[in-house]
Amino acid sequence: MKIGIVGSGTVGTILAQTFSRGDNEILLSHSRGAASLAERRSEFAANVSFGEVTAALQQPMVVIAVPFTVAPDVLRQVADYQQRIVVDVTNQFTADFKKIDTRPLTGSEVIAAAAHNARVIKAFNTLPHELMTGKVAGPGRRVLFYAGDDREAKKTFAAVVKPLNFRPVNLGKLRHGGSVMQVGGGLGHTAFVQLDE
Ligand SMILES: NC(=O)c1ccc[n+]([C@@H]2O[C@H](COP(=O)([O-])OP(=O)(O)OC[C@H]3O[C@@H](n4cnc5c(N)ncnc54)[C@H](OP(=O)(O)O)[C@@H]3O)[C@@H](O)[C@H]2O)c1
Repeated sequence: MKIGIVGSGTVGTILAQTFSRGDNEILLSHSRGAASLAERRSEFAANVSFGEVTAALQQPMVVIAVPFTVAPDVLRQVADYQQRIVVDVTNQFTADFKKIDTRPLTGSEVIAAAAHNARVIKAFNTLPHELMTGKVAGPGRRVLFYAGDDREAKKTFAAVVKPLNFRPVNLGKLRHGGSVMQVGGGLGHTAFVQLDE
């Protein structure tokens, strides 16, 4: 899968490394341009290349790994996602970690509204970054909750993460699954489940 990652902070970096363990081509981007990543070449495998945010947003699967507060504006740079997949890893916090109330929408529905004609998957946000590798101590797989409104997009997403040692768990649509996954929903940063299968 060709995966564009927008944001190369803590989460963008670790997800680039995680996805690079699979049969994927990753285009990692940074707000200050691809050149700003050059000195970090040694942190990534050969199937991770560096590109501009606009290029990352054009990939078949886009991971939006920026603060929730800026994600809608970043996503609106593309007028039509033409049914491409956008993976929303954001948590609804202000810069000083105050929860943002998006009711009646869930946070991922706000993201979906900004990503016109994208198939949005909410995932990874319930894990602290150090567990986003998929690696577990001993045997077993890392449970990865996800939600989305498009069944085929969810199948595609699950097929991408399974080989990375995740056990994807479908929580339904962005309205319901998204609401339990988001900040204050019950699963956020509490459910670090590992399955022995
Ligand atoms: N850290 C965690 O454990 C964790 C866990 C689950 C979910 N999340 C969520 O994941 C997202 C990323 O978190 P993080 O910890 O990786 O944050 P971070 O380390 O602060 O990285 C944020 C990245 O977003 C970039 N960015 C900011 N504004 C941008 C813009 N307008 N256009 C393009 N790029 C922009 C930043 O670029 P600059 O370097 O230029 O600032 C940086 O690369 C957040 O929504 C967070 O809630 C984090």
